[in-house]
Amino acid sequence: MRSIAFVYSTVDGHTLEICERLAGVVEKDGFSATLLELGQNVDIDLQPFDQIVIGASIRYGKHRPVVTQFIEDNIELLDSKHAAFFSVNAVARKPEKRQPHTNPYVRKFLKTISWQRAVIGIFGGKINYSMYRFWDRTMIRFIMWMTRGPTALDTNVDFTDWDEVEVFGRAIGELSDPERVK
Ligand SMILES: Cc1cc2nc3c(=O)[nH]c(=O)nc-3n(C[C@H](O)[C@H](O)[C@H](O)COP(=O)(O)O)c2cc1C
Repeated sequence: MRSIAFVYSTVDGHTLEICERLAGVVEKDGFSATLLELGQNVDIDLQPFDQIVIGASIRYGKHRPVVTQFIEDNIELLDSKHAAFFSVNAVARKPEKRQPHTNPYVRKFLKTISWQRAVIGIFGGKINYSMYRFWDRTMIRFIMWMTRGPTALDTNVDFTDWDEVEVFGRAIGELSDPERVK
């Protein structure tokens, strides 16, 4: 059975939720899926996995440093594992911001890392003001105001297009398909 490791960075759990959905999709396609939180599984050996998928959310304009570090430390491994990457951010609630060249964070991120061969997914995130502490709530409301998003304090909205997540999940499975990959 081919195996996929989902290596993720999350703060409020939404990226994990997306990984869980992706895991469900690839399991239906006959893969085994393992979810590993970046920073929590530093000693894990990724060599035995056939594929690696990295998922990370944006916080204050950036993926967390642990994401960049992981990629830079494992470029050779990633290149040998049909690796894919996805980013979760509130700006991607707008469909036109879901391409690597149109999403400001992913565009910038790709300029800062030397790994360029990724298959990339970009998904809208979740906004739930009641979960955040005062400073975070104030800042994310400001970001939303700047980008014409919801600012009402009772906002609790999931901007993820789950159909797009499913499509991405199936695309991941095809990456290591022996019929496609020589
Ligand atoms: C404090 C804070 C800062 C955020 N900063 C940004 C940001 O700069 N740009 C953006 O598009 N989304 C931003 N977001 C939205 C998150 O990317 C979104 O909530 C995502 O679903 C979080 O995923 P996670 O739960 O896996 O961390 C921010 C959210 C919070 C709570």
